[in-house]
Amino acid sequence: MSLEIVHVSAGYPSQQVLDDVHLTVPKGQILALLGPNGAGKTTLLRVLSGTLAPWQGQVRWEGRDIHRLAPKARARLVAVVPQARALPPAFTVEQAVMLGRTPYLSWLGGAGQADWKAVQRALTQTDLLPLAARPLQRLSGGEQQRVLLARALAQETPLLLLDEPTTHLDLHHQSRLLALVRDLSRARGLTVVMVVHDLNQAARYADRVAILDHGRLVAAGSPAAVLTAERLTRVYRTPVEVLTTAQGWPVVVAAAE
Ligand SMILES: Nc1ncnc2c1ncn2[C@@H]1O[C@H](COP(=O)(O)OP(=O)(O)OP(=O)(O)O)[C@@H](O)[C@H]1O
Ligand SMILES: [Mg+2]
Repeated sequence: MSLEIVHVSAGYPSQQVLDDVHLTVPKGQILALLGPNGAGKTTLLRVLSGTLAPWQGQVRWEGRDIHRLAPKARARLVAVVPQARALPPAFTVEQAVMLGRTPYLSWLGGAGQADWKAVQRALTQTDLLPLAARPLQRLSGGEQQRVLLARALAQETPLLLLDEPTTHLDLHHQSRLLALVRDLSRARGLTVVMVVHDLNQAARYADRVAILDHGRLVAAGSPAAVLTAERLTRVYRTPVEVLTTAQGWPVVVAAAE
């Protein structure tokens, strides 16, 4: 079982972005998607989530083309933590997280016990229980980011897509979020694709990393194999050194220009 990105080309009416991206993410693994600004990372996540149809190629989950699923079925399959914040400001934290349960609610029925349980669990996992009744407009940027994660977790999907989830978070909450995502992938077999700019976070928390540049896949594989000084210097157009920690993690540092 896996997520298969099969020769995907995609873009917008004004421009092509993705060019023949071909990649497989085995079930239960975390893939970190790397690359410079404008490389096409968010565009690829849009194709994976089903919101942007590929011009060519397919996205398959367990062999089924996700773009052929009905919206509700797709919402039970894939949850997204978006790059831009888009939450109704007057909602409370709890109400916003309950939005993650939408694909399970019947047309007339309200939230049931399973829905409340999922919301409480997601609030607990993201340290948001004390803020449950707070309106979103009175949260900090990092707290809002955690609400987006909690909403996605409450959705209880086998596939989770995260677009720069640690951007607004302090060091403690960055590690907490990445460790939580890793634990969920280990314990529940959650399959994760996350866009991160911090190459060291990618090296530490992802099973595999993939680099996009100008809409093309430049490399994919283990962090140690992909994150080489020569490749990173070329892709990021800036001199880079790669060191190795005592535990064998690659550590990427920008060299002086
Ligand atoms: N809605 C849109 N309509 C037209 N072009 C778009 C749209 N969204 C993004 N683009 C363009 O597509 C290209 C890839 O954008 P994308 O958002 O996928 O990059 P990214 O790798 O996520 O970058 P970043 O690291 O800055 O988030 C860019 O040239 C961007 O200007
Ligand atoms: Mg982006």
